[in-house]
Amino acid sequence: MTNQGIISKYRHLLDLPSYTRIVTLFEGNTPLLKTDRLAHQFGGGFELFIKYEGLNPTGSFKDRGMTAAVSEAAGRDARTVICASTGNTAASAAAYAARAGMKSIVLIPQGKVAAGKLAGAAAYGAQVIQIDGSFDDALTMVIEITNKHPICLVNSINPFRIEGQKTSAFEICDVLGSAPDWLCLPVGNAGNITAYWAGFNQYNQVRSTGLPRILGVQAAGAAPLVLGHAVENPETVATAIRIGKPARGEQALQAAEESKGCIQAVADSQILDMQKLLAEREGIWVEPASAAGLAGLAIEIASGRLNPQGKRIVAVCTGHGLKDPDIITKDMAKPHIIPPKLEALEEMILDEKK
Ligand code: F0G
Repeated sequence: MTNQGIISKYRHLLDLPSYTRIVTLFEGNTPLLKTDRLAHQFGGGFELFIKYEGLNPTGSFKDRGMTAAVSEAAGRDARTVICASTGNTAASAAAYAARAGMKSIVLIPQGKVAAGKLAGAAAYGAQVIQIDGSFDDALTMVIEITNKHPICLVNSINPFRIEGQKTSAFEICDVLGSAPDWLCLPVGNAGNITAYWAGFNQYNQVRSTGLPRILGVQAAGAAPLVLGHAVENPETVATAIRIGKPARGEQALQAAEESKGCIQAVADSQILDMQKLLAEREGIWVEPASAAGLAGLAIEIASGRLNPQGKRIVAVCTGHGLKDPDIITKDMAKPHIIPPKLEALEEMILDEKK
């Protein structure tokens, strides 16, 4: 069957009101890629899959929850949606609002949003507002304004976002035939980990697919769930998860505990090394935050805390590498310039010394 978007496919499993009017860009149905070379790099003896969520219509996993939130809003004739965002939610909200004929307003932390995300929000016609503050400040503001005015909040505290996002867990079970042994993923505001855990539990009830253990991974400079307290000035190269007070933090901790998994932190250097390894070894280029789950997995395996032998492990890669091209180009060696002559090209690529 051709992809018609996640609501059409899984409507019977999603708690959406009957008045919902589907607004879709045919999100979901993303590839589950087996990455043998990477598994080998981690020591081998297990199966590793990447759920490549960067291949959703606006380049991140946010589109699953956004089709649900905007479809519910469209069904009750909402005119305007708003969100706080480190970038991906903003681009997704703007695209789905455009598709629904609604206005979108996005609040972003000043100067810390990757180029591809800001460009997306602008291209889809959002009103983009920068806050001289953090994501957490912006989230507080959008909650306050939507309590006061008839504007629809589409951050992941909106329950319909979680409903839509659950579908990635369903897809993984559909492809593998059951839940994996482990699922690892980056954690920022903690909507995604909450949704996966809800999705796996629901599928286990209706299809007996079993449950994975969940490894949630934060960046060391923005790791409130590992530290056990809010972080006032979160800092990380993985700007998508530069969040100090996760709205669904309690649920993230619950998912880790109930699943007998854990939440841990990784250094920025480990995130960037993993981003490079995944792109160079497997041809999968993801934005830095998306490599955090894998970086955490590598550490857990290397430290002996996670024995992967004989297991099936899925790492969720949440956003496409094109979202944040600067992170690569800023340190890139300038390409050599040669004259448009065959000899010059031969000299360049055949000369062992070069
Ligand atoms: N990966 C990427 C690429 C993200 O953009 C985000 C969150 C996460 C992981 C973490 O997901 O918040 O559900 O725990 N981005 C939000 C945004 C905050 O505004 O785009 P989470």
